[in-house]
Amino acid sequence: MPELTYLGHDAFLLVEGSHRLIFDPFLSGNPLATVKADDIKVDYVLITHGHGDHSADGIAIAKNNDAVIIAPYELAVYCGNMGCRVHPMHIGGAHDFDFGRIKLTIAHHGSGADLGGKALAYMGNPCGFLVTLGGKTIYHAGDTGLFYDMKLIGEMNCIDVALLPIGDNFTMGIDDAVKAVEFLDPVLALPMHYNTFDVIRSDPAEFVRRVQAAGKHAQVLDIGTALRF
Ligand code: NI
Ligand code: MN
Repeated sequence: MPELTYLGHDAFLLVEGSHRLIFDPFLSGNPLATVKADDIKVDYVLITHGHGDHSADGIAIAKNNDAVIIAPYELAVYCGNMGCRVHPMHIGGAHDFDFGRIKLTIAHHGSGADLGGKALAYMGNPCGFLVTLGGKTIYHAGDTGLFYDMKLIGEMNCIDVALLPIGDNFTMGIDDAVKAVEFLDPVLALPMHYNTFDVIRSDPAEFVRRVQAAGKHAQVLDIGTALRF
């Protein structure tokens, strides 16, 4: 039975048996985070795109754990050049790992990394992740706007848990995230990417109410708490 722990923003720890994965580690710079990057124990680090609020602790966590970074090709190559073990993938591609299967989805967003130059460094396209392990499928949407292909993703996958941004401004807000739940039709939707910064203030309880009013299921997972599914 997989266990998903919310670490704040878009960071989640996913544990199934002896397998440990982290999504989008952003801990050292997140005032709401309750765990330190140094304390994370994982085998794999999944990074949706190069923005600091998704990738900031990825290289350090990967090196600390001799873990493999799974990311879109351009971002993975960069992490590899920084001395990390990497498994590059790209949108539409799936691969079987020792823990289960990962498929990359589209995400409508950017993926530049601020490496200190005047312009951001190109890190390719952002992605979402479909992760299947222990007989369950988790969809981490990454940072994205609403897109109609979510309906296709929902038709082609039995999604147990969908992790969806609701913070608006950079990603879907609540209106579009509720529509995303209708398209994806997951067993359960969890909100993410809200309240970390003022510009993404959003009420996760309103998201849950609206999803339930649409006849679907959602809940708020507090930072530091875990869900077994
Ligand atoms: Ni972003
Ligand atoms: Mn973001």
